[in-house]
This record gives sequence, C-alpha cells and structure tokens, in this order.
Amino acid sequence: ATARLVDGPLKGRRIVVTSGPTHEPIDPVRYIANRSSGAQGTAIAAALAALGAEVVFITGPASVPPPRGVTVHPVETAREMAEAVDAALPADAAIFAAAVADWRVARQSSRKLKKTGGGMPALEFAENPDILAGVAQRKTARPALVVGFAAETDDVLEHATAKRARKGCDWIIANDVSPETGIMGGAENAVTLIYKDGHESWPRMAKDMVARKLAARIAEALGGPAAD
Ligand code: CTP
Ligand code: CA
Repeated sequence: ATARLVDGPLKGRRIVVTSGPTHEPIDPVRYIANRSSGAQGTAIAAALAALGAEVVFITGPASVPPPRGVTVHPVETAREMAEAVDAALPADAAIFAAAVADWRVARQSSRKLKKTGGGMPALEFAENPDILAGVAQRKTARPALVVGFAAETDDVLEHATAKRARKGCDWIIANDVSPETGIMGGAENAVTLIYKDGHESWPRMAKDMVARKLAARIAEALGGPAAD
C-alpha cells in the first residue's frame, strides 16, 4: 500500500510502528503465540497517519486489519520483525507496540511432530532479540523518539519504570493486562506514560483515544512538521 499524504503536524515525519503478536514455529503446523490482538498498535499507526506521518507498520499476525494510509510489512516471527525494523530505519520516531515473543523454539522441526510411545516431546527455547532495546541503544540511526510498551500484571509502575531505564527508550507506555482488567483483547486501555523524569497516568479510555493522545504527544515531541 502506498502512504497517503495528509497535511498535519507530522507531515514529512517517518515513523516506524510495530504491532500485533509474533508467531514462533514449533513445526510446520504449530506455533507459539500470545493474546495480542494488534488493536492498540493499529490505532496508533492510524492516528499517526491522520496527523500526516509516513508510517511504516510492521505487524505480526494480528486479529484486526491494518489501518489505511500506512505502509504495511507483515511478519511472522520476532526475528523477521527485527529485520523489518532495521530495514525501515532511519526514522524520526519508532513506537514498539508489538507483543514480541520472548522465546522461540530453538530447533524448529521441518516435519510435523508425531505422537510416539516415548511420551511428550521436550521443547528447547532460545531467547529472541529485544527489538526495542536494540533500536533504543543504536549508535547510528537512532530515531529521535523511541517509545516502548510495558504490559504488566503486577507492580505495573515499578516494573515499567525499570524497564524504560533498562531498555534505554525515551518513553514507555505502561498498562495493566491482568485478565480482570479486560484490556488484552478489549476496546479500552488504561495507560501510564513514563518518561525519564516522571510519569502521568491517563484515565481509562478507548484504545483509539489513547492512540490519538499519544500521536499528539509525539507530534509535540518532534516539534512540528519536518522542514522541506
Ligand atoms: N519488545 C521488543 N522485542 C522483544 C521483546 C519486547 O521489541 N523481544 C518490546 C515490546 O514491543 C514492548 C517492550 O519491548 O514495547 C516491552 O515488552 P515486554 O514484553 O513488556 O518487555 P520484556 O523486556 O520482554 O520483559 P518481560 O520479561 O516483562 O516480558
Ligand atoms: Ca516480553
């Protein structure tokens, strides 16, 4: 898809957005996944495009369709996502909304695993690259603004604050994804925006509204449209 050119405070700005889950294959018919629907990342990409940004949308197999007016790069695994992100740089900002699998199966079977008399197969795992940390800590072509997410189920603020510092990103958007919040897979989100020297909690609102508020903040941080 070709990007639509919209006039707005992000005109001329290139922004990379990751979204959705990743799938990590076990064998040709099975994979490991997570519950991310891609809704929040999709809403963010749409909101950035609506403000005039040229959005490169790198998405795992999401359950919601990608927005219009962005360049879509579908990927499956964390490693494919990492490669697509690298290829999309340089950019003015990068927003990491994807729920990247932390682990992949170390040795993917080229044949379907079969039941045997010998009991269940043992899967061995390898750690996936941390895409956000890799970009945030780049020595060259680091986007001016790098934003991560922190989905937590307990001690949300504490964990997310430590996560921002550890990864070296500028902002982290923390949210509580405990099942009782209904946020994972739901239409609403309640987030706290954490920056280097403080944080602010936003009231629970539609994911679309979170996206628009965040896009406005990003426009502010980048200081208006790019000079020609
Ligand atoms: N992320 C990433 N690549 C990974 C893992 C995570 O880019 N391999 C990004 C996510 O897109 C998100 C942020 O890092 O923006 C935080 O993800 P999260 O899973 O909360 O952090 P982890 O460092 O994986 O820590 P945890 O052990 O809590 O899962
Ligand atoms: Ca993780």
